[in-house]
Amino acid sequence: MNRVFGFRGVTYRAMRPELSSYEHLSAGKVRENYEIDDDTLLMVASDRVSAFDYILDTQIPDKGRILTAMSTFFFEQLDMPNHLVGPVDDERIPEETLGRALVCEKLKMIPFECVARGYLTGSGLKEYNETGRVCGIELPEGLVEGSKLPEPIFTPATKAEFGSHDENVDYDYVLEHLGERRSETIRDAALSLYSQAAAIAEEGGLILADTKFEFGVDADGNVKLADEVLTPDSSRYWPKEGYREGHRQPSFDKQYLRNWLIGPKSGWSRESGVQPPALPGSIVEATRDKYVEAYERVSGLKFADWIGPSA
Ligand SMILES: Nc1ncnc2c1ncn2[C@@H]1O[C@H](COP(=O)(O)OP(=O)(O)OP(=O)(O)O)[C@@H](O)[C@H]1O
Ligand SMILES: [Mg+2]
Repeated sequence: MNRVFGFRGVTYRAMRPELSSYEHLSAGKVRENYEIDDDTLLMVASDRVSAFDYILDTQIPDKGRILTAMSTFFFEQLDMPNHLVGPVDDERIPEETLGRALVCEKLKMIPFECVARGYLTGSGLKEYNETGRVCGIELPEGLVEGSKLPEPIFTPATKAEFGSHDENVDYDYVLEHLGERRSETIRDAALSLYSQAAAIAEEGGLILADTKFEFGVDADGNVKLADEVLTPDSSRYWPKEGYREGHRQPSFDKQYLRNWLIGPKSGWSRESGVQPPALPGSIVEATRDKYVEAYERVSGLKFADWIGPSA
């Protein structure tokens, strides 16, 4: 992938930097951040997978590249300034991380998970069943698992420390911390981005049930879309075909792997407080296939055409 220059009949290969030439800034559950310079990050998505707040011992081959392909597709599609500051084959990206790394503007992250939901499930459904509301938003009576909401809602959560759950909060809580102008900006952005993305997903026959965005602020005070976007790690996609209110929908995320972990075959229980066991090959493969399928259906592109060394 190195660029080749010709000069008086001699061929030069412009070498990409080694990953070790960048300072390692932080490790998240899935991604590693490196510093390119004062204003620029290299965000590298690994093949790690987390479930029930554990990072599993088994990796999903190519997951980092699939997530990066999907984020990149959506950054291009969505109508909002984002943190990308270079192409996917940017010269600053080390060879071995091609396809899984993005060159991003270093932003001051806004400390909320900006979740938008068009359908009721997961923690939203749990809260609704207990209170009739989600994050302070009153919802009509009689909604069930998978119900479509009258309109998409903004349901922010605090970013939890590693090993604990993000906690849903009311919009008032966000207002207290960020003030009116910034709170409105991220709420309106999350809802608008959700609608844009849901329309794109629908073309591929998928329902975007909910998704999480993270925003950051640049040196001039502009709010930009950051982190990963609309990947199966941050979003729930359901096949439109076969969607039935009142039932758990088969999703394109880690459901397959979660079901195996909590099922009888894994010998593991969520309450045990111990690290989950390694995943069998069939579960790894099925999970990888789901991630690839989500990318291909949503983007209309082939994952085989995505840049970088495959696992
Ligand atoms: N443009 C950016 N500038 C600075 N930090 C960013 C930017 N985009 C994303 N981040 C941060 O980089 C990290 C990405 O790593 P990863 O997603 O693996 O973390 P995580 O396990 O989800 O942890 P966290 O709870 O911090 O999000 C996140 O903390 C995210 O907030
Ligand atoms: Mg994250």
